[in-house]
Amino acid sequence: MEKTKLQLFIKQKEISRRVKELAKSINKDYHDKIPIFIGVLNGAFIFMSDLIREIKVKCEIDFIKLSSYGDYKISSGKVKTIKELNCDVKGRDIIIVEDIIDSGLSMKYMLNLIRNQKPKSVKIAALLYKKNVGKINFNIDYLGFEIENKFVVGYGLDFAQKYRNLKEIYVL
Ligand code: IMP
Ligand code: MG
Repeated sequence: MEKTKLQLFIKQKEISRRVKELAKSINKDYHDKIPIFIGVLNGAFIFMSDLIREIKVKCEIDFIKLSSYGDYKISSGKVKTIKELNCDVKGRDIIIVEDIIDSGLSMKYMLNLIRNQKPKSVKIAALLYKKNVGKINFNIDYLGFEIENKFVVGYGLDFAQKYRNLKEIYVL
């Protein structure tokens, strides 16, 4: 794979350290609960799998897939569900697991969708958040890293479906 245009941004060790810290907080907060982790495909699949393996409390998982950016770096501004949830959200403690929050549009859509199904609680775990993009009207309960407004790939994140397999996070 051509790597020349990629600039190393967050090292594997750094990611893994943060993922463990996030899991530690989650373990503490959910010690008497059985949360459902809902991973947002495709981007969150690696973060989700690393995070979940650090979780010590009894838990369940499910995945949802939203329409993506297509092959462009800028959001189309429209979000829709491509793969629906299979779990019963009603009365449950939900943790949405997302790779990156940019404009916050996808998360807003998801929060709406999940809250409509009357969960007991909803929290958000996101590996990355682009702090300078826009105002978001929700709280990111478990956040890995705040980053500048740069397009990043690797560790599940793609550009035109490529680079998801990289172990580190790169700036494109
Ligand atoms: P938002 O709806 O603008 O918050 O965008 C969120 C989604 O866009 C994420 O789940 C990612 O799939 C994708 N995305 C946003 N920024 C990046 C990036 O820098 N690299 C890769 N994907 C991104
Ligand atoms: Mg995503």
